[in-house]
Amino acid sequence: MEQGIGRRSFLKGAGAAAAIGTAANIINLAGTQTAFGNHHAASEAGGGSFDFDEIYDRVGSNSVKWDQQIGKYGAKNFEIGMGIADMDFKAAPCITEALTKRSAHENWGYMDSTESLKEAICTWNEERHGVKVAQETVTIASGVHPGLIAALLAVSPPASKVVMNTPTYNGFWTDLRWSRTVASESPMIKDSEGVYHMDWDDFESRLTPDTHAFLLCNPQNPTGNCWSEEDLLRMGELCLKHGVTVLADEIHCDFVMKGQKYTPFASLPDKAIVDNSLTFKAISKTFSLAGMKNAYFFSTNPVLLERVRYFHRADINTLGVVANEAAYREGAPWLDQLLPYLDANHAFTEAQIAKRLPGVHYKKAQGTYLAWLDMREVVSAINAEAKAEKAGLKSAEHYMEQWLIERAHVQLNPGSNYGAGGEGHMRMNIATPRPLIDRAIDLLAGAIRSA
Ligand SMILES: Cc1ncc(COP(=O)(O)O)c(C=O)c1O
Repeated sequence: MEQGIGRRSFLKGAGAAAAIGTAANIINLAGTQTAFGNHHAASEAGGGSFDFDEIYDRVGSNSVKWDQQIGKYGAKNFEIGMGIADMDFKAAPCITEALTKRSAHENWGYMDSTESLKEAICTWNEERHGVKVAQETVTIASGVHPGLIAALLAVSPPASKVVMNTPTYNGFWTDLRWSRTVASESPMIKDSEGVYHMDWDDFESRLTPDTHAFLLCNPQNPTGNCWSEEDLLRMGELCLKHGVTVLADEIHCDFVMKGQKYTPFASLPDKAIVDNSLTFKAISKTFSLAGMKNAYFFSTNPVLLERVRYFHRADINTLGVVANEAAYREGAPWLDQLLPYLDANHAFTEAQIAKRLPGVHYKKAQGTYLAWLDMREVVSAINAEAKAEKAGLKSAEHYMEQWLIERAHVQLNPGSNYGAGGEGHMRMNIATPRPLIDRAIDLLAGAIRSA
């Protein structure tokens, strides 16, 4: 595997964790605790059997997060990838063991049943999230997108509108393209604390007769919102009243930070509201198995489910099924140690940004491993809007992305990719060893100071 990135290799060679501080003392610096939640008590960050501080070199593995950026910007101009939503840690050992075992059987013909995987999915959802999913309603997909596209084809005629509360997951726009539907963006309201709330009047005003679906993201990528039962019920009630189906993308559900709660849409205490929805999930965010192409969806409404299945074609991949089932059946201890580590990463990022990045604001996310940075002051200070226009770039935030690459060699995702309300924001993926976050903040600080 190539080791060609100067400063990153330096960081490795210098024993980054030792030089910068162990996870535990960095947490003390940030003044946070790490043990939380029912599932999370197993370990404190810095303890346990998995070393999430280890910088695991992904360069040369054909990854979007690292290799694609090197291809785009050149190795000399790139040091840390904090864009696409996957994780930099070594996979849970149970996954590698299951894949190794399956690989010992050297035949890769069509596979038969996914019932055992479905059973693992039902157990996980019941044990971790308290939601009972009937096994016969679980449909295995080759990603969340194929499921969402099938659902949109089933419920939303071409040219009809799909409501999204923005900023929201940028991939939703590709699902609209595939289903020939049109976005109806309901911008959320950001309060003075940096927390996003629904704009209920705007949301309801968009539930028009030519609108048939609401794409909900819970927890929300990129803002991190873990929607409360009250909010979900209100969304569900309004959608039901106006004949709009709720498509709940809950792929980030396993990443819930200290003191927060994930409420599955399917667990809401109103049968009619739940029956007006489908839930889309995957093991791929939880255990960073995105390249294994495996996801699933379900609904309590058999008619709706059958309509969606009619439009859905899944191509199932043997290794994906093996890896995903191993993760759900045996991966909980790994995840239980990872969650406090990520919580402490969020806390560290929040504290260090406040201390070291003038003009950047970040309020610790409730869920996901994504940090949604408010960089409006920097965008304005460097005149990014005019410069983007001059350079023929899509938006000020795309200019900002390039500017940060040039000056900090750190890649962040432009906020404008996430719809209305993303202006002046950048998304930073913090599912990476803490020493790398520390290094990235240093590099960003240097760039911002030079502005
Ligand atoms: C909210 C959300 N949904 C779906 C996906 C992609 O899912 P998949 O790779 O299973 O299609 C992502 C990936 O970042 C995501 O954040």
